[in-house]
Amino acid sequence: MTTTETNNPQRKIQLPLLSLASVSKSYPSGNGNRMVLNNVSIEIPTGETLAIVGPSGSGKTTLLNIIATLDKPDSGSIFFESTDLLKFNTQDLAHFRNRRIGMIFQLHHLLPQCTLWENVLIPTLPTNTNHQEAEKRAEKLLKRTGIWEYRHQKPSELSGGECQRAAVVRALVNKPSLILADEPTGALDHHNALNLIDLLLELNKEMGTALVVVTHSIELARKMNKIYELNDGILTNKNL
Ligand SMILES: Nc1ncnc2c1ncn2[C@@H]1O[C@H](COP(=O)(O)OP(=O)(O)OP(=O)(O)O)[C@@H](O)[C@H]1O
Ligand SMILES: [Mg+2]
Repeated sequence: MTTTETNNPQRKIQLPLLSLASVSKSYPSGNGNRMVLNNVSIEIPTGETLAIVGPSGSGKTTLLNIIATLDKPDSGSIFFESTDLLKFNTQDLAHFRNRRIGMIFQLHHLLPQCTLWENVLIPTLPTNTNHQEAEKRAEKLLKRTGIWEYRHQKPSELSGGECQRAAVVRALVNKPSLILADEPTGALDHHNALNLIDLLLELNKEMGTALVVVTHSIELARKMNKIYELNDGILTNKNL
């Protein structure tokens, strides 16, 4: 938890890492609008692990894209610690996202022409990071995820599970506070899916990075601290 001073220095308010309040989003559909997110509120504490489940079309990716600042809601608020994300301009948002949020998708989206080593360093290029330190972090993460020996190979020369582990390294290389994973195991077999989720949970413990996983698998969802369900754009906490 992040703490912030109030007027009274004796009193500290505990801020969640991320707070979405009354977020709604509609898309044009036929003659009218279709409400995809209906008054969604969620707080993600620092270091938390949570799953979002729900049927296809229920708004899970839309919600993740809004949390990732890739999309804007029609109404509601989004605070990252004490920062109002809806006040950022596009350039500030891109900078913020690159430093604070790591993303993993169903398909790894590694660049086919680049080696794993080049791929995992891509997020470190636009930031003012110390490149030597970034390379040390990439080395440590590639070793930690068991793919260091493949670093000079290209994605086409590796298995789906190995590529997805490289996507995990790429998501973590800038030491973000939050990892958003949209069906990260959707293209993996059951064994590799379990391995990937266990790896994400181990890294969550080691690095304290909060983890939000969208999944269709209730077995994988149960490994997280909390489970939320989206149904027709309404989010409910299944643990209540
Ligand atoms: N850019 C868009 N323009 C119009 N409609 C959209 C857009 N993005 C999503 N939608 C619609 O919003 C609804 C929710 O989509 P979303 O991708 O968030 O669902 P999902 O829960 O992630 O589904 P899945 O499990 O199949 O990935 C769908 O009906 C979809 O067609
Ligand atoms: Mg989706």
